[in-house]
Amino acid sequence: MNILIIGSGGREHAFAWKISQSKNLTQLFVAPGNAGTAQLATNLPIAVSDFTGIAQAVKEHNIEMIIVGPEDPLVKGIVDFFKKDKSLKKVKIVGPDAAGAQLEGSKDFSKNFMQKYGIPTAASQTFTKDTLDEGLAYLEKQSLPIVLKADGLAAGKGVIIAETLAEAKQSLHEMLAEAKFGDASSKVLIEQYLSGIELSVFVLSDGKNYKILPEAKDYKRIGDGDKGLNTGGMGAVSPVPFANEAFLQKVEERVVKPTLAGLQTEGIKYVGFIFVGLMNVGGEPYVIEYNARMGDPETEVVLPRIKTDMVKLMKATAEGKLDKIKLSLNPKVAIATVVVAGGYPEDYRKGDLMIIPKAEKDTIIFHAGTKLAGDKIVLTNGGRVIVSVAMARTLNSARQKSQRLAKNIIFDGRYYRKDIGKDLLKFLKEQE
Ligand code: AMP
Ligand code: GLY
Repeated sequence: MNILIIGSGGREHAFAWKISQSKNLTQLFVAPGNAGTAQLATNLPIAVSDFTGIAQAVKEHNIEMIIVGPEDPLVKGIVDFFKKDKSLKKVKIVGPDAAGAQLEGSKDFSKNFMQKYGIPTAASQTFTKDTLDEGLAYLEKQSLPIVLKADGLAAGKGVIIAETLAEAKQSLHEMLAEAKFGDASSKVLIEQYLSGIELSVFVLSDGKNYKILPEAKDYKRIGDGDKGLNTGGMGAVSPVPFANEAFLQKVEERVVKPTLAGLQTEGIKYVGFIFVGLMNVGGEPYVIEYNARMGDPETEVVLPRIKTDMVKLMKATAEGKLDKIKLSLNPKVAIATVVVAGGYPEDYRKGDLMIIPKAEKDTIIFHAGTKLAGDKIVLTNGGRVIVSVAMARTLNSARQKSQRLAKNIIFDGRYYRKDIGKDLLKFLKEQE
């Protein structure tokens, strides 16, 4: 089977790595890909939202299945685009249509959806430019801190946690009256602050059946000890020690099942990944957000823990046959450390020469913002540049290996967090 992966990050390199191990694969393409995917697949220089260009490539290379990595093409309706066209309709796509992708594309939609189907989530109310005054008055009655969320996609920047009333009012004004995030902030949710520990659960849905994939914890802040600016993700760990069986059981019963049943009731045939961002509040799961895709860098720790053939798993998803698949997992701990360009998540440089070591046993290097110059020379080409993943029987040794590998990846201005997974050791005292 010829397969196309859409995207260019560490997530897509991880998909390419896993898919290329399958004997059910004939040829693999990635659009646009990076220097890492180029080692495993043919990179096609097509932008992720260039649907016409993607359609042409699909015909030219007889591509039978597409796996969509990022949210942008999903929210813009890549699946609808393919289903509408007679000559493309048969191409299998792993990813929801635009209706399903609203789970991520509109926080107002997903909040209403959760409220309608009784899925535990923070209390919230939505305001627009026309109801700005009501919004400001509403803020006066809320406790602090308080969370403001732009409704639409804002490249991970649309959530503001305000510590003071003045800050909250100013942010609400900027988002609604000054369109701080453009159209994305034409509606703003004011949401109760939940205090707890975050983790993410990933669900693969074929429209009828589902599989729950390994959970993961992400590290969003730039600095050690969760300090500093928010990023796309500086590291990830799977499994998550505090997500014990009882907690995951609650997630399945209270979140996953009602989410999938709700989608069906809404007439949405959801084919693809659902990334459920959760807050564990004293042992109870609350949904913070849904994403209509896998996480990055979460994918880099989730996929190495899946033993099942990835092409079979993706094909069964696209064909509505997930009930025929047995998901088998690797019990080892996987840790990803993301190596970023100096200055990220603010301004950073691109085009720096990279020295990348060979991955030792039980380690994997996934490229993110990299590109090839000639056949062998790899240059930095993004903020999150490359990801060092290690697997081991214990969290501590996975941590050490992932750190060691990250340290040996060299380029000017390189930076990575030194504490990925460290906060989780306390949940494991007896085992480490
Ligand atoms: P989101 O873009 O919805 O993932 O939000 C970004 C981050 O803001 C989350 O990963 C949380 O750390 C934080 N956050 C979002 N909503 C809440 C909430 N209701 N309470 C506390 N923290 C939140
Ligand atoms: N790492 C967070 C995300 O993929 O949204």
